[in-house]
Amino acid sequence: MRIDILTLFPQMFISPFSQSIVKRAVDRKLVEIQILNIRDYTHDPHRVVDDSPYGGGTGMVLKPETIFEAVEAVATQAQEDSSASVILLTPQGRLLCHQIAQELAKKDHLILICGHYEGVDERVRQHLVDDELSIGDYVLSGGELAAMVVVDVVVRLLPGALGSEMSAEEDSHAAGLLEYPQYTRPAEFRGWSIPQILLSGNHAEIGKWRREQSILRTLKRRPDLLEKATLSPQERGFVERMKQVRDEDTK
Ligand code: 6GU
Repeated sequence: MRIDILTLFPQMFISPFSQSIVKRAVDRKLVEIQILNIRDYTHDPHRVVDDSPYGGGTGMVLKPETIFEAVEAVATQAQEDSSASVILLTPQGRLLCHQIAQELAKKDHLILICGHYEGVDERVRQHLVDDELSIGDYVLSGGELAAMVVVDVVVRLLPGALGSEMSAEEDSHAAGLLEYPQYTRPAEFRGWSIPQILLSGNHAEIGKWRREQSILRTLKRRPDLLEKATLSPQERGFVERMKQVRDEDTK
């Protein structure tokens, strides 16, 4: 996979991409990441990237020419058969989730545009961009942090990105449920012991306990996720019984 990021603040990406999973994926050539400065695609001596909005109002709007030229330069450079997906990071975009991350992980080439200031000229949205993504219902100062989040969630899904000791399938959200509680040594810490089942060596029972814990935790913290999760008929029954217990308690 190839990811090109167009930004006015290229320096922001240095540290997050030179550590941990993303660095390892780059080292293993699973992904090639290029950070490009939008300002490099201006033609005027002051390298102006924004202008005041038509119709008046506060703030500045990113001009269309520079963004179009940057994306076109990147697309030409890539010389690929299928075209890249051009994605604008904006609070107005589709809300990023595990399923969208999986869709993006199948693509050969992503071009991420980091929006800034009051936004980008609408013609960028209409005629250049394939998709718009947001990472949550709050406003960031720019699309950079959101682009880093997108890269992280996508790269960890690329085959070989996680070590064999880790599995993206077991992550929270992968199965539509939150993850079960994890413990490590010591078995007793400050008087708090771990659930005895984990010491039993009975992997079938441990698996069952973990699945139940995932379901209970999801019911308690994110009941909205349970509606969409893939559960067996027995597990649906379990959820219904637990809901009853919960509702009894709050009466
Ligand atoms: Cl993608 N950009 C900005 N500026 N704010 C956001 C966002 C993106 N996602 C959530 N908030």
